[in-house]
Amino acid sequence: MDKIQEFREECASRIEGYANDKAFQGISRQWLEESMRKGYPYNFSWMGRPIIQNPVDMVAMQEIIWETQPDLIIETGIAHGGSLIYYASLLELNAISGGPQLARVLGIDIDIREHNRGEIESHPMFRRIALFQGSSTEETTIDYVRDFTKKFNKILLILDSNHTHRHVLDELEAYTPLVSLGSYCVVFDTHVEYFTYAHRPWGKGNNPMTAVDAFLANHPEFEIDEMMDAKLMISVAPRGYLRRK
Ligand SMILES: C[S@@+](CC[C@H](N)C(=O)[O-])C[C@H]1O[C@@H](n2cnc3c(N)ncnc32)[C@H](O)[C@@H]1O
Repeated sequence: MDKIQEFREECASRIEGYANDKAFQGISRQWLEESMRKGYPYNFSWMGRPIIQNPVDMVAMQEIIWETQPDLIIETGIAHGGSLIYYASLLELNAISGGPQLARVLGIDIDIREHNRGEIESHPMFRRIALFQGSSTEETTIDYVRDFTKKFNKILLILDSNHTHRHVLDELEAYTPLVSLGSYCVVFDTHVEYFTYAHRPWGKGNNPMTAVDAFLANHPEFEIDEMMDAKLMISVAPRGYLRRK
């Protein structure tokens, strides 16, 4: 067998093993819970901007962005802008590798703080970024985003704003029709179903994972990428990597 294919198959078979490895899954979940309690995802930055993410999920996003070569990434939830800069830098790398030359990231946030806006707008990656301030579930925002997407062909969607069931379900209904075939909708913070969060409107039974479950019940055009879950083990988006069939 071809050596490259052999290596791929080795990886796939190892990952399939993780899917049934309850002990590995258990310690991974325990580690994740402790890391969330200790604010671990707040420790990182990308090209100088704080990115509130788990690094393992960001490697997964790099794999998806390389594999699917989007020309537009829509992300709800900007915060300090680190994830927007990260996705824009990956689009830049795709472009210099022969991928879509004019690829952009559209970031939406209900509250883009002035100091964050200043840092994002003066960043070298800003040439690939557009910002929109407004609630992601407001009709005016949805109309703006729909209009923005008209010039693009391969769209990836990332939901990382308000993590309540109602909000995420509304985002899923509003924006998933824009996701291209073979591309993804990634729903962050589905792990809230597993852990209790104090002082947050979301928690067990009311979170992105419950929204994903409700959404998938009526949308057979999307499926969970279960191999992604099995591979990552430490992820804030279990059952949240949705592929459009
Ligand atoms: C978890 S942070 C985003 C983190 C960012 N994606 C990153 O990786 O660094 C959540 C953001 O969602 C925004 N947000 C909350 N409710 C929202 C809404 N209704 N519409 C749009 N954004 C919202 C907050 O202002 C906050 O900046």
